[in-house]
Amino acid sequence: MLVAPSILSADFLDLGSEVRSICEAGCDYVHIDVMDGHFVPNLTIGPVVVDKVAKIASKPLDIHLMVENATFFVDLFAPCKPEFISVHIEEEKHLHRLINHIRNLGIRPSVVLNPHTSEESLKYILPDVDMVLLMSVNPGFGGQRFIPNTIEKIQNLKNHIATKNPHCLIEVDGGVSDKNIDLLKNAGADIVVAGSYVFGSPDYAKAIASLR
Ligand code: DX5
Ligand code: ZN
Repeated sequence: MLVAPSILSADFLDLGSEVRSICEAGCDYVHIDVMDGHFVPNLTIGPVVVDKVAKIASKPLDIHLMVENATFFVDLFAPCKPEFISVHIEEEKHLHRLINHIRNLGIRPSVVLNPHTSEESLKYILPDVDMVLLMSVNPGFGGQRFIPNTIEKIQNLKNHIATKNPHCLIEVDGGVSDKNIDLLKNAGADIVVAGSYVFGSPDYAKAIASLR
């Protein structure tokens, strides 16, 4: 299991040392939640901060855009050279074009589904993405409770992936902890995002290892 701690739950007054700590603690990616106050009722960080994070992180960035007008934000964050940029299917009218645009920038494209969005909606985009990010909480805030029907969604998605794009990864985001990690692994998740579980723990290395 690959682990991507979300810095949304980090101490923002000490962000540099928090990012260094999770990288040294053995995370696989640094998950960055970008919120615009429109697509979700919260506001986080922009490219000025993410650029600094990119410079000190020894692990690749995994940027999760929770925004309207995603194309504008993709271009804004592309210079930070993330490994992945994830865009929500609910927001984008021209998803196929945007996914290709992300790939042409040299970034691995990923599509995100909110809890109410069916995995069936991925039918014609699955061959073009490197990852699907399944939200297991409603996006906007850290520290929420895991929505149980995500497990069934992972299993269904795993079947679609097997026929349409076997290299596509499944990432799960929201309410992940040592309590549900076995269920997530058995269902077929490849990467988990964990914010409050990792940053709320006294020992980041131990928390990451418990998910791995
Ligand atoms: C929610 C974010 C998540 C969040 C996860 O909108 O996308 O990445 O930070 O936080 P936890 O792990 O605390 O649910
Ligand atoms: Zn996220």
